[in-house]
Amino acid sequence: MFKRVPEPFKIKMVEPLKIKSREERIKALEAAGYNPFLLDSDDVYIDLLTDSGTGAMSDYQWSGLMLGDESYAGSKNYRNLKETVEDLFGYSYALPVHQGRGAEKVLFPCLIKEKGQFVLGNMHFDTTKAHIELNGARAVNLVTEKAFDTATPYDWKGNFDLDKLESFIKEHKPENVAFILITVTCNSAGGQPVSMANIRAVSEIAKKYNIRVFFDAARFAENAYFIKQRENEYKDKSIREIVKEMFSYADGFTMSAKKDAIVNIGGLIGIKDDEDLYNDASSRIVPYEGFITYGGLAGRDMECLARGLEEGIDEDYLHYRISQVAYLGHRLIEGGIPIQTPTGGHAVFVDAKKLLPHIPYYQFPAQVLVNALYIESGVRAVEIGSFMLGRDPETGEQLESPLELMRLTIPRRVYTNDHMDVVADALIAIKDKAKDLKGLEFTYEPKVLRHFTARLRPIE
Ligand code: F0G
Repeated sequence: MFKRVPEPFKIKMVEPLKIKSREERIKALEAAGYNPFLLDSDDVYIDLLTDSGTGAMSDYQWSGLMLGDESYAGSKNYRNLKETVEDLFGYSYALPVHQGRGAEKVLFPCLIKEKGQFVLGNMHFDTTKAHIELNGARAVNLVTEKAFDTATPYDWKGNFDLDKLESFIKEHKPENVAFILITVTCNSAGGQPVSMANIRAVSEIAKKYNIRVFFDAARFAENAYFIKQRENEYKDKSIREIVKEMFSYADGFTMSAKKDAIVNIGGLIGIKDDEDLYNDASSRIVPYEGFITYGGLAGRDMECLARGLEEGIDEDYLHYRISQVAYLGHRLIEGGIPIQTPTGGHAVFVDAKKLLPHIPYYQFPAQVLVNALYIESGVRAVEIGSFMLGRDPETGEQLESPLELMRLTIPRRVYTNDHMDVVADALIAIKDKAKDLKGLEFTYEPKVLRHFTARLRPIE
């Protein structure tokens, strides 16, 4: 028996949901070009497109909105945020930005010194990869091979393959590596955690070759929770202590605060102690994001963010949060749906290659599954596979993603376990009809980041 963890909160305000009929959903999907990114939110019942900016703030965060100090420079809320960053991460410098990609846009050019340099990661998120490439560098993924074997559980599918990391550095020379970026948890591999031992080892290799290490810290708290659960020497440590130790191994971080900091918009750059880097980033933040003490955010937003960082590391909350994701995974496994195992921090990733073996990668099996799930139940998920990956920029050929996944991304503190049952029941119902589902082809294909706006149709 799976033991569900009840919500450590009660509900003060609700947002009504409407359920459209199957016929209405079929029409809406056709009008959206078989791309749920183009659906109106009113056409969606349970929205599992992303966990980014979709969380529910607490009453303590909402009350922080009223304490917004909208001074252009040096606001009280900025000082609260800076103190929280010092306290949680042990870093001297904090620069607010409007969201995660704002942090990437400002920080990466300070770190990439020459075109053709490499940025080594476990697995880069798509906007992260885009900002690396916009600066003329190359994004390299060095995640453990175990991440690609969805059926075999492994505790640390977000880990770097340390041998690959060191050989890459030796082969391509340390001076050609701009920096190392550890994404916690590793979103693209399934919200999979990186162990403290792996973080420590990456930082030791980096030191040996004089390379700087940064975190992509969007889901830092969920990663810390997994370390506490799975890494024996941390079982008696608090999440706060674990977070402090994790960040001690890096020189700084970029953060989309829309995830673990549970705000609807916001981001951060954190720098441990490198004053020159801070000055460099500060001079870039002014033209792109805004003055160094607000970076595109209102004072009230920074207050919610400072409070959200504290709430995000609350252990009771994290216990419930990770357990809700695990519950959905458990229901799916029980129902014979192949998923990335074990389930990760923020989402359940369904293995569409296994569920729809008759649909080849260039007809986008995971996108087919996303559409089928929407029609079955009004649940909106997202494709992470060949549709998102796109074409080889040189040959124009469709690339084959190593995994064809449908991500069921769970917003924080928003849906109940009964909602999880709706999702699981719908997918289980689709399983029996899976062999009749048809592949997709483009009717409109944008050149860059096409999955957001492309239009498709089923192949007859
Ligand atoms: N890094 C990671 C690991 C992310 O997951 C995201 C966003 C970003 C950076 C960029 O942050 O959206 O605030 O600009 N991920 C969202 C998702 C969009 O759905 O996974 P942002």
